[in-house]
Amino acid sequence: MPGLARLRTFKDMKETPNRAANRPDNRQFAPATGRNRDAIAAVLQRVLPKTGLVVEIGAGSGEHAAYFAPRFPGLAWQPTEPDADGRASIKAWAEAANVPNLRPPLDLDVTRAVWPVTEAGAVFCANMIHIAPWACCLGLMAGAGRILNEGGVLVLYGPFKRDGEHTAPSNADFDAGLKSRDPAWGVRDLSEVTEAALDNGLALEQTVDMPANNLMAIFRR
Ligand SMILES: C[S@@+](CC[C@H](N)C(=O)[O-])C[C@H]1O[C@@H](n2cnc3c(N)ncnc32)[C@H](O)[C@@H]1O
Repeated sequence: MPGLARLRTFKDMKETPNRAANRPDNRQFAPATGRNRDAIAAVLQRVLPKTGLVVEIGAGSGEHAAYFAPRFPGLAWQPTEPDADGRASIKAWAEAANVPNLRPPLDLDVTRAVWPVTEAGAVFCANMIHIAPWACCLGLMAGAGRILNEGGVLVLYGPFKRDGEHTAPSNADFDAGLKSRDPAWGVRDLSEVTEAALDNGLALEQTVDMPANNLMAIFRR
């Protein structure tokens, strides 16, 4: 049941986000975002449109949104997150960042047939499809296919298998750990993700190898 699996995920990340002691707001901290954000931003600089709306899926703590929005001032950055604690953290990060192009978070569960955003130039999703049932990857592709403009881009970040194989022993260990927490979770194979994308009018345009055995996969509508 995607809803139940989903509700566990924000607090069940590889490194659980935490609230800093003595901090008076709802900001949570996911340490991995500090390590991966510059490498991700460099790819986003190349593939995102210069203007329009970017919808971030499963924005988690909101640290990515607060870091990326000021770096893309021509874009409106719309974080989304189905978990209420996550949305509170995103809202707190957005308020602290105080940048005009960062919107307050929306409640968006990818498995819903109707999303609260109906049109976008880009969809960005980091580290969601492996920490959620496969139905969430299918929902992401269906929703991105519905809302992306012609020529719009879907950007995924995370670990992937290639041709059925893990790309590193650490990813195999991570996959085993995910499956022990929930058998419906697991590192996805890029070819299966690509097939799901194609079924929704999204073609794989390029992949970029990222630090820590992650990958960015860029799909174009
Ligand atoms: C591992 S966290 C990643 C958070 C953030 N993107 C990052 O990279 O730090 C996975 C995120 O996916 C979200 N998620 C899980 N199921 C979802 C669904 N059905 N629709 C949208 N987001 C979902 C979780 O709530 C969580 O915020």
